[in-house]
Amino acid sequence: MSLHLLLLLLLLLISVSSLVPASRIPAVIVFGDSTVDAGNNNQIPTILKSNFHPYGRDFIGSQPTGRFCNGRLPTDLISEALGLPPSVPAYLDPAYSIRDFAHGVCFASAGTGLDNATSDVLNVIPLWKEVEYFKDYQMKLRRYVGRAKAKYIVNEAVYIVSIGTNDFLENYYLLVTGRFRQFSIGEYEDFLMDRAAEFLTKIYHLGARKISFAGLSAIGCVPLERSTNIQQGRACAERYNKVARDFNAKLQALIGRLDASLPGLKLRYLATYESLLEIIQNPSSYGIENVEDGCCATGKFEMGYLCNDFDPHTCPDAEKYVFWDAFHPTEKVNRMMANLTLRTSLSEFV
Ligand SMILES: *[C@@H]1O[C@H](CO)[C@@H](O)[C@H](O)[C@H]1NC(C)=O
Ligand SMILES: *[C@@H]1O[C@H](CO)[C@@H](O)[C@H](O)[C@H]1NC(C)=O
Repeated sequence: MSLHLLLLLLLLLISVSSLVPASRIPAVIVFGDSTVDAGNNNQIPTILKSNFHPYGRDFIGSQPTGRFCNGRLPTDLISEALGLPPSVPAYLDPAYSIRDFAHGVCFASAGTGLDNATSDVLNVIPLWKEVEYFKDYQMKLRRYVGRAKAKYIVNEAVYIVSIGTNDFLENYYLLVTGRFRQFSIGEYEDFLMDRAAEFLTKIYHLGARKISFAGLSAIGCVPLERSTNIQQGRACAERYNKVARDFNAKLQALIGRLDASLPGLKLRYLATYESLLEIIQNPSSYGIENVEDGCCATGKFEMGYLCNDFDPHTCPDAEKYVFWDAFHPTEKVNRMMANLTLRTSLSEFV
């Protein structure tokens, strides 16, 4: 290549990069369950894992990372859209260090919930432990960038929280803990609100300010719950969708209260329920052909170890599906959720 051409290329590169605004957000910090777990469960003794193909077949480098998806999660796509790295690494992944975590970190654990009893069911990381990891992270961050810069990163980062589904589908309604005897469903929702308030107040006192808290999705429409709704021909299970709506109404009230009472806090609700239902009711406008089954295996009940490369039924093109496995959305739907998050609950920060 001639020197002239090289110089021209360099000039072009410099002018293009100066057009891209530097992100005002220093990091994306993630708490929650499998909807946002980037691979923390790989490092703990639980059976709830997804670090094998076909999971990850559409991820960067076709890598199965422990994300419950064919590709990236909403949090990865949000990070990239903010000018940060294209994926948010799991805090327990030994391949990453504080140098990476300074730009984004995920503490989430598949199978966890707001209720301590939920994380016990599959022996995953309870939410209080995610907060302990956040404290540990801040110590490492201070050592790495200094006290002032660490405080800046923690205060200015965007926080994404996605949790609550497992409290109902893996705990209360599976009758595996005593919660269904101890609480009516309404009382249990209130109990979970107290846990959410506790968690949010804790991370606020640890420095979190810009927080997007996802409401529950249309959890009665996941393939697994459709499959148990055989009397109604695998329609969405209305009982679970109603719980999600009731939970969300209480969550929105809680978010309003906390946002008004904790100075400097910008806590925003994310309306995933309406958004997922819109896709499920109008799939063709999104180029989607199947809203009922997961792409992986038969799509009726498989996730985790049951969704594996030995099953010949896995669909060739996940872009045509709402769900990747019997519980989790495809990267395509995650892109729509990332877009929604950026346009709504994070719009004033970006
Ligand atoms: C959950 O467990 C943690 C750690 O043992 C404990 O500090 C916390 O009080 C528990 N929460 C509830 C509501 O029991
Ligand atoms: C994000 O959503 C807006 C509004 O619905 C839409 O116009 C835009 O194409 C979407 N972008 C992506 C990348 O999906």
